[in-house]
Amino acid sequence: MASKAATSSSIPTADLESFSSHLQSSRRILALLGAGLSASSGLPTFRGAGGLWRTHDAVSLATPEAFQADPGLVWQFYNYRRHMALRAQPNNAHYALAQLARKTRDFETLSQNVDGLSQRAGHPGDKLHLLHGSLFDIKCGEFFCDYVQKDNFTNPVVPALAIPTGEIDPTSNAARGARELDISDEKVELPEVAIRDLPHCPKCKTGILRPGVVWFGEALPRDTIRYIDDWIHATNKIDLILVIGTSAKVYPAAGYVDTARARGARVAVVNTERTDAPGSGLTKKDWFFQGDAAEVVPQILKPIIGELETRAQQA
Ligand SMILES: *[C@@H]1O[C@H](CO)[C@@H](O)[C@H](O)[C@H]1NC(C)=O
Ligand SMILES: [Zn+2]
Repeated sequence: MASKAATSSSIPTADLESFSSHLQSSRRILALLGAGLSASSGLPTFRGAGGLWRTHDAVSLATPEAFQADPGLVWQFYNYRRHMALRAQPNNAHYALAQLARKTRDFETLSQNVDGLSQRAGHPGDKLHLLHGSLFDIKCGEFFCDYVQKDNFTNPVVPALAIPTGEIDPTSNAARGARELDISDEKVELPEVAIRDLPHCPKCKTGILRPGVVWFGEALPRDTIRYIDDWIHATNKIDLILVIGTSAKVYPAAGYVDTARARGARVAVVNTERTDAPGSGLTKKDWFFQGDAAEVVPQILKPIIGELETRAQQA
């Protein structure tokens, strides 16, 4: 089969053609997004974070108990993660998905990413639902208060959290290669941050604001889960679920693949690893596109979004 697609990558032409025709006839589409979407945006992972955070277990900082015990320390950690995420740029997969969301009326996105890159790529907010919250949502730490501010990209979030100098550039090739945050200058010490210098809640006036991410031991956002469940179980069947950059092997993500399939959806997976079959595994009717999401996603969505105009911008 001769096709334009044959020139652009190793994706089998037959797969691309059958996917294209299904995509073009799809009315209701769900996209399930994970960390692999942002992989080529140069975002370090925080497992085994080094440097300044060497003496702190990143997992133990991501708990309500840690925030209760030392909100200044937890804010420094999250301020750092915000800083790093802001230095990363949305890639062409983020832009392509934002385009698809704009062009498809009945489209929903469920993202497991907290990095804010979809938002910065212009993904429509009403079609973007965050399963684990966002580094850039800020909410009141008091259980009785519902204050939340979405997409606050101010960095540092308050002046007292300005990052001490002496870090290596996290976007350098070395840092990217390691895929780990590693601030080698151990002489840099974290300054103490006074409680009064942390962001406070403008609504209840008593709470300290906290990052709007889901911490270990916390429930997933109930409204988000309910919204997506209602959408999935609406009268019309689902035509397509795109599973991008996530193994979707862990619940609830895995459950969405199986449920969407049960509601009629065909499954298309984009991931670097073939072994990462989502839900209860792939079937013959599914598509698996192996590769970096930033390259594969714009290519497979081309029948709807055309040639991507917005290249990843330099900050
Ligand atoms: C972000 O939140 C901080 C802390 O509440 C606040 O001071 C700042 O003005 C906010 N930024 C924007 C753009 O609203
Ligand atoms: Zn409050």
